[in-house]
Amino acid sequence: MVNFDKTIERRGTDCVKFDALKGLYGREDLISMWIADMDFPVPEEVTAALKRRAEHPVYGYNIMPEGYFEDFAAWVKKRHDWEIKPEWTCHTPGVLSALSAALLSFTAEGDGVLIQPPVYFPFSSTVETLGRKVINNQLIYKDGYFTVDFDDMEEKAKQAKLFILCSPHNPAGRVWTREELARMEDICRRNDLLVFSDEIHADIVYTPAKHIVFAALSDWSREHSIVAMAPSKTFNIAGLGMSFITVPNEDMRKKFQTLLGGGLHVSGANAFGIVAAQAAYRHGEAWLEELLEYLRGNMELLDRILREHAPQIRVVRSEATYILFLDVGALGMTPDELKDFFVNKVGAALNVGATFGPGGESFMRINIATQRENIKRFAEKLCAAVAAL
Ligand SMILES: Cc1ncc(COP(=O)(O)O)c(C=O)c1O
Repeated sequence: MVNFDKTIERRGTDCVKFDALKGLYGREDLISMWIADMDFPVPEEVTAALKRRAEHPVYGYNIMPEGYFEDFAAWVKKRHDWEIKPEWTCHTPGVLSALSAALLSFTAEGDGVLIQPPVYFPFSSTVETLGRKVINNQLIYKDGYFTVDFDDMEEKAKQAKLFILCSPHNPAGRVWTREELARMEDICRRNDLLVFSDEIHADIVYTPAKHIVFAALSDWSREHSIVAMAPSKTFNIAGLGMSFITVPNEDMRKKFQTLLGGGLHVSGANAFGIVAAQAAYRHGEAWLEELLEYLRGNMELLDRILREHAPQIRVVRSEATYILFLDVGALGMTPDELKDFFVNKVGAALNVGATFGPGGESFMRINIATQRENIKRFAEKLCAAVAAL
């Protein structure tokens, strides 16, 4: 059994989540619940593999170890029932670097790129930085749940060349159903869009929800998509910079790999990242199952306390990820006022919902991947601050 309750002091490790608090939130004495990594130790086998590697004192350039992409293929087969050939998958340091490479490979300057806000905010900034045009297909929020506005998507798809699907969706917490994915795929097919399917959160899904890989939907989706996955969120190794980008279509893959290796020079991997990723996929499954139970418990505890003591605030029903939206619309505050309220009245660092684009204005995003004691402390402080308003 993993002891997820055990506090681990992260301050002083140069981690963004704690050591950048002062610069970003103006204070250090906050319960830190923002950036998407976890306050939990990684699977023991990952640490052991890293120690073994560190003992060899030469850290030069690497090739991928034998079985590296095979282990990933076995993982996606087992966890997501997706059959791939190991050679379909490429390495990038991150999902965002893969997104940039996909935009550069498959779109031209000025092309429209469809996204579904409120969504992970680097999507829009990446598209804009590379001179492409963001096309928003805003999600619908109703009865505490997000869904796709298909009529709007049908219209917006006409202006776009590529669709960035966030699946599961951060921060809406949705695991898209087969029917929803099929409708999105149909729109993309009829409008000739390629799909960059960001599935970085695919492993953090709460039963009975079941993640469906976009490329596994049909022959068309397999041939027209780039699927981005990683052990980074799943096993808490984001600092090691390892992602697995699968491009089943051979022509697309060649173009993508040429840019990665010959243009951007990001196809070589980090000596420690390789070791950690392989150990995680080989040995981390039992740890992940325990993690999912713990996270579910955190989500339920937060929901229960808020329902009882601050029913104006609603935990948006989440089927996936450990970063949830809190519906704080009833507080009637602007995004700046919300940030100030959470920092100075509650004593916690969360992400302001407006950052995630249109539709996010009346939310705050909270990271619940922390010791349960912190969830309880946060919920109590929030209830007291709301009562004092
Ligand atoms: C949906 C989504 N995509 C991508 C990333 C970042 O990926 P990377 O660090 O691999 O670039 C995150 C991190 O929170 C995310 O939530």
